[in-house]
Amino acid sequence: LRLPFLDDALAGLLSTALPRMSAALTAPAGTGKTALLRRLRSGLPEARYHVHYVKVTGLSKRDMCREIAVACGAQPAGSYPMLVRRLQERFETTAHNEGRRPVLVLDESHELSPDVLGMLRILTNFDMDSRLVLSLVIAGQSPLRSLLARDDQEAMARRIAHYAQLRLLSRDELAQYVAHRCAVAGSARVPFDDRTLDALFEIGRGNLRATDDLALKSLDYAATAGHTTVSVQHVIAARKDLWP
Ligand SMILES: Nc1ncnc2c1ncn2[C@@H]1O[C@H](COP(=O)(O)OP(=O)(O)OP(=O)(O)O)[C@@H](O)[C@H]1O
Ligand SMILES: [Mg+2]
Repeated sequence: LRLPFLDDALAGLLSTALPRMSAALTAPAGTGKTALLRRLRSGLPEARYHVHYVKVTGLSKRDMCREIAVACGAQPAGSYPMLVRRLQERFETTAHNEGRRPVLVLDESHELSPDVLGMLRILTNFDMDSRLVLSLVIAGQSPLRSLLARDDQEAMARRIAHYAQLRLLSRDELAQYVAHRCAVAGSARVPFDDRTLDALFEIGRGNLRATDDLALKSLDYAATAGHTTVSVQHVIAARKDLWP
């Protein structure tokens, strides 16, 4: 689904990654970060950009380097300093030999430890910062912003040329979202009327994932009862199931 605020966030990320700068995307859980990163990837022409996607979990610096190496097709073995050097060489090779700009996308970055974030900063360092080779796009839940605001992350924070944020859907956007999901699922009509959409909005608060869960569960309830339209009662029953 294309919504203006999502398009704006995407445009901000693209206009940062295109000239090899780095960006951060922060938003609460389930509000469309990963989906937006997928659009970012397809928005960067493959002939000129080499996008590497890494989904981060709590890793040490060395293990993180190994994960990135695997994503980049570099050998994931060796000591930590050796891995950093190999990755930097890899990014330079991509840039020079293939003529493609490397972009490293890190999802779930709020789980990064401060020293791993510092390591990422080192990865983007070429010729003492005189050249921009690698763009970093780090995405994560809101604690990522506090992580970047720490005193010891000042160098990394300075690297981030653009901060994008996502918000919850409005009532009107929620209706568009539900209609879109129904259409994608192959339904010729939207089995939620205005009052039911109000209930979905009130309970799910415009969070995409909460809306998904609630809408699906209430569809189950409606189907079990033999109804072709979901009622407010089905939504309330679904809420009790999901968030007792
Ligand atoms: N633009 C969109 N159009 C249609 N569906 C979307 C869109 N953006 C997100 N979604 C759907 O909303 C749900 C949540 O999105 P997504 O997984 O991207 O959120 P997230 O912010 O990455 O969540 P988390 O913090 O848990 O990783 C998914 O089911 C996804 O398919
Ligand atoms: Mg995600």
